[in-house]
Amino acid sequence: MIKEVQSWLRSARSVAVLTGAGMSAESGVPTFRGENGLWRNYRPEDLATPEAFERDPKLVWEWYDWRRGLIAACQPHEGHRALVLLEERTLQFLLITQNVDGLHERAGSRQVRRLHGSIWILRCTRCGDEHEDLTARLADIPPHCACGGMLRPGVVWFGETLPEDAWRDAQLAAQQAEVFLVVGTSAVVQPAASLALIASNASSKVVEVNPDATPLSSFVAASLRGPAGQVLSEIIS
Ligand code: OAD
Repeated sequence: MIKEVQSWLRSARSVAVLTGAGMSAESGVPTFRGENGLWRNYRPEDLATPEAFERDPKLVWEWYDWRRGLIAACQPHEGHRALVLLEERTLQFLLITQNVDGLHERAGSRQVRRLHGSIWILRCTRCGDEHEDLTARLADIPPHCACGGMLRPGVVWFGETLPEDAWRDAQLAAQQAEVFLVVGTSAVVQPAASLALIASNASSKVVEVNPDATPLSSFVAASLRGPAGQVLSEIIS
């Protein structure tokens, strides 16, 4: 199947990629579900909802600050770099990610749409101003804006809608892609997971890269069972 997918990717004029936490696993960023997943040890309703932030902003910020420190020490891997190469040689390309870690951008990917925001962006809950802050650990928790309002992480929490522009571009790319790669996502969080269905309904060849089976595995054109770094380097060469 590797050879076949290689040739699909070589001849496609339009490719879209959806990545999830498994994409960053080999860089050392924990995934959410699975054996050592974050949601094994933490409850999303305590840490990743607007209600949780309203109830206890310090607790939520401590968790995000810990994750920022952890991610800052991680580096993109060969799979991230393979996706940069794929972008460079493909006429029409979009990388859609559910990841908030910024590793794709650090690897050099340019056409990236972040469906769940960025852990490096801080947004004011009062004036709405947002800025990027790449310091690994924040000096004050919770951090505050120049206007005096409290800052929140620039991520999408459960119960919040996705950034409109990113979602529109992602849907369009899924409709137009000749090949749609789905890498390292459990495909259980909507609406992100529905992009694979949109692509499949539009006759795109959907290719899944994941060591484990997911709800998508039964209908994709190819299911490549293995870690993202190794499989992406093999199919993009
Ligand atoms: P999950 O943690 O749900 O799924 C990670 C997937 O990566 C699983 O299917 C694993 O089998 C796979 N995986 C693990 N190691 C891998 C590797 N080395 N290479 C490839 N795949 C590997 O993460 P997501 O699907 O990204 O949302 O989760 C979606 C959303 O749920 C996240 O964006 C986050 C989370 O709650 C919010 O916080 C809003």
